[in-house]
Amino acid sequence: ALSGCQQQQTLSFEEIAHRLDHHHHAPNGYQTQRLLSWGDSLHRQDSFTPDTLTPAAQAQRFGFNNDFIGFMPLSNQQTATGYEHFTSSNSQRGLLCVNHEYTQPHLMFSGYRDDEDGDFNTRPEHVAIEQQACGHSVVEIELQNGHWQVNTDSPYNRRITVTTPMIVTGPAAGHPRLQTSQDPSGARILGTLGNCAGGKTPWGTVMIAEEGIGSAFIGNRSNIPKTEQDNYQRLAIGNDDNRRWGDVDPRFHIEKEPNEANRFGWMVELDPYDPESTPRKLTSLGRFEHEGTTIVAKPGKPIVAYTGDDDEFQFFYKFVSAGVYQPEQPAANRQLLEQGTLYAAKLNDDGSGEWLSLRHGEAFLTEQFGFHSQADVLIECRRAAAMIGATPMDRPEDIETNPVNDCTYVMLTKNKKRKTQDPGNMRLNNSAGHILELLHPGKDGQRDHTAHTFQWNTFILGGDPGSDTLNNQGFYGTGPNGETVSDAGWFATPDNLTFDRQGNMWVATDGCEAFGFHDGLWAMPTAGPYRAIPKHFFGCPLGAELCGPEFTPDGNTLFVSVQHPADAHGSTFDHPVHRWPDFDEALPPRPSVIAIRRKDGGRVGS
Ligand code: FEO
Ligand code: CA
Ligand code: CA
Ligand code: CA
Repeated sequence: ALSGCQQQQTLSFEEIAHRLDHHHHAPNGYQTQRLLSWGDSLHRQDSFTPDTLTPAAQAQRFGFNNDFIGFMPLSNQQTATGYEHFTSSNSQRGLLCVNHEYTQPHLMFSGYRDDEDGDFNTRPEHVAIEQQACGHSVVEIELQNGHWQVNTDSPYNRRITVTTPMIVTGPAAGHPRLQTSQDPSGARILGTLGNCAGGKTPWGTVMIAEEGIGSAFIGNRSNIPKTEQDNYQRLAIGNDDNRRWGDVDPRFHIEKEPNEANRFGWMVELDPYDPESTPRKLTSLGRFEHEGTTIVAKPGKPIVAYTGDDDEFQFFYKFVSAGVYQPEQPAANRQLLEQGTLYAAKLNDDGSGEWLSLRHGEAFLTEQFGFHSQADVLIECRRAAAMIGATPMDRPEDIETNPVNDCTYVMLTKNKKRKTQDPGNMRLNNSAGHILELLHPGKDGQRDHTAHTFQWNTFILGGDPGSDTLNNQGFYGTGPNGETVSDAGWFATPDNLTFDRQGNMWVATDGCEAFGFHDGLWAMPTAGPYRAIPKHFFGCPLGAELCGPEFTPDGNTLFVSVQHPADAHGSTFDHPVHRWPDFDEALPPRPSVIAIRRKDGGRVGS
């Protein structure tokens, strides 16, 4: 293939090759720094000894399987408010806000087997450690002489876990379906889990998604109230192969605490600038397997929050606030996500699309169909969206709006179960995934994201463009002189994304090993002659997926999450070879955040 992007002004890095080995890879001229790994203390300079780990110790240490990363600047003004810190755009010092999606005991604990016989060797102390290894970390970091340092003395450093107290806002707060024996109010929840991707608000908070919640809950669905059976079945809550937390913690056994699972599957908002702040679950954004949330805010207009439900044949959504965004009113803006309308997307074959409102009392969302209030619509969002005719998608992962052209991009990672086409999901047995581009009414850079209609097109079909299997054949852009994607530039299974300040899209993948090479990061323009011609920027070690790409405001550092390294067949804590990133016999493989910079300190990607 021709080398596609040689002439580009903004993405001139020398691309790396498709590989599959035990190391990570970045282009020539770049340095990579391991910044934070599972087990690193947030409060002391010490070394991690996994054999001595306790739940209390894990609660003070960086969690497992890092995912979303938000860089939240810290200004050098001591007296700055959180909003003033956030808008300082300081790229030398900040809070790294990182999700910890889930735990893998066979990679965390020596002697633990998690083999194909389902030989779960759960011990109570392991479950308690796992619960402290999920959630979120806030860590102050500073750039010194081209290297990032963790400030272990920072008062901001904080862990959010499965036991952190949170409050509930929005229409489902306090609803009887959220009430439990521990919390009769239904408005105070302990903890968060399944924290996959996320987002940042323009008022300086982070949005933490609750995605794969089902696997934490066991129990027999036929022994719980009928009203929750379909609800829990749709979220795989109480499946036989779920993790056995419920054996040792009754909160996660649906027969013992039948409403607990309704308290997860929401978006959570955290103010990292206030170490005493209580995280808030935002029920207005619906309950499902949230991949993340991205907010579009324009002065004087309602804010829009896009969010995908990452499962086969699920939907993607947007929330439109009742109030309007006023940049100078950061305190008032904090209420915007509590009141508004949630919509699910319906795609039509002619390239048009509609946002269908999820309002109680309208369409099928009535008493007759078991929806007694708006709270019921939000708790059972999957059923509600299916009933009003939203389009079932191929696993909607991150959805993000490009700050330059104001178009919105939907990552559809894959769906091998697809047997029939839906608009926007055209490949049967879709194993390579695809990316859609949504255009709301208006010109580039000035689109009306509150509109009820949009246009959509296919930006990229993942996979090898040379494949002779139609379902796997990739489709990318073509340059003005016939340039096409290079041998290393094609990818599959798009998952997370971010944009640089020039509007280039950076896509992280989860599933390329099925195509014979590592997961990683690919960068491409979304406009201009080299639109949709990706170049390969970063590759993961064997077993890992890449998550959380995040730039500093100046674009000179790119943070990435390497999640579940060594998660290959037969790999365990005790495996002699799979020991990224330390390659130290005393340490197992450790999920880690990597900071990537150009050796000359210039803009990443240029
Ligand atoms: Fe946690 Fe959708 O990936
Ligand atoms: Ca993801
Ligand atoms: Ca993102
Ligand atoms: Ca993933």
